[in-house]
Amino acid sequence: NEIKIFSPATVANVACGFDVLGFCLDSVGDEMVIRKIEQKGIFISHIEGFDLPYKAALNVAGVSALAMYEAIDVDFGFEIEIYKNIKPGSGIGSSAASAVGSVFGMNELIGRPFNKTQLTEFAIKGEALASKCEHADNLAPALFGGFTLVKSVAPLKILNIPSPEDLYATIIHPQIEIKTSESRAILPSNIPLSQAIEQWANLGSLVHGLHTNDYELISDSLNDVVIEPYRSQLIPEFNAVKEAALTAGALGVGISGSGPSIFSLSKGQSTADNIKVAMQNVYSKTDIDFDIHVSKIN
Ligand code: HSE
Repeated sequence: NEIKIFSPATVANVACGFDVLGFCLDSVGDEMVIRKIEQKGIFISHIEGFDLPYKAALNVAGVSALAMYEAIDVDFGFEIEIYKNIKPGSGIGSSAASAVGSVFGMNELIGRPFNKTQLTEFAIKGEALASKCEHADNLAPALFGGFTLVKSVAPLKILNIPSPEDLYATIIHPQIEIKTSESRAILPSNIPLSQAIEQWANLGSLVHGLHTNDYELISDSLNDVVIEPYRSQLIPEFNAVKEAALTAGALGVGISGSGPSIFSLSKGQSTADNIKVAMQNVYSKTDIDFDIHVSKIN
């Protein structure tokens, strides 16, 4: 009657895939316990790690749970405990992990009536509470694992993208908070056609490189000419971290989601570890606190 789950952190956008591409991290995530209870409704009974609202309608995990609860006809309710490890506003899908965790757990407890795309539909409601916009590029990889591409939100269509066996991510998180809603507000609503062409050429090439295990093409395609020029200004030492990671062997470097976390992709664990040291060195020379993770992508 209860289930304990790990809800993973995710990297959205992946340089050229703003709002559509994302991948799942296996080494960072929240834990949640979902329990069936007699009282009807959705109740958040415990939150650890960060100060978040207990009222279901104001909590990301609660909102997605309520969306699913409205779609099922049951004479019991659910209680949710949240053990949050992913800091809100860190850029590695904190709200998505919460939004996905509750609906994934509830679905397991009632015999899996919903598939992963349907669960994403409910989770989008929770994600929208945090970012003021319905996007699924963190939700999809959290539910499906590996790399995913959100082909469209309405109707929701999610594609699983295969990726090379030896692909690793190194992610550094400077301890400042950037709200997704705010870092979306600074983006232009129109972009020049020349930029759009470069961006979609890179996105198509990146997806092709992931499919064909072509590390050189992956490296060549990991560029963001649309979003990074705006958002990188909000991230301390962004250019220095990027330079250091590339020198240490990164295939590419970009802003993780809406920042401030910075991700790199690389081939093999030892390069990923070298990048970790190189990124750390940049922030160690400043008074910026940070944490850093290396994760295999599966
Ligand atoms: N695609 C979203 C953005 C991800 O960059 O705003 C953040 O959650």
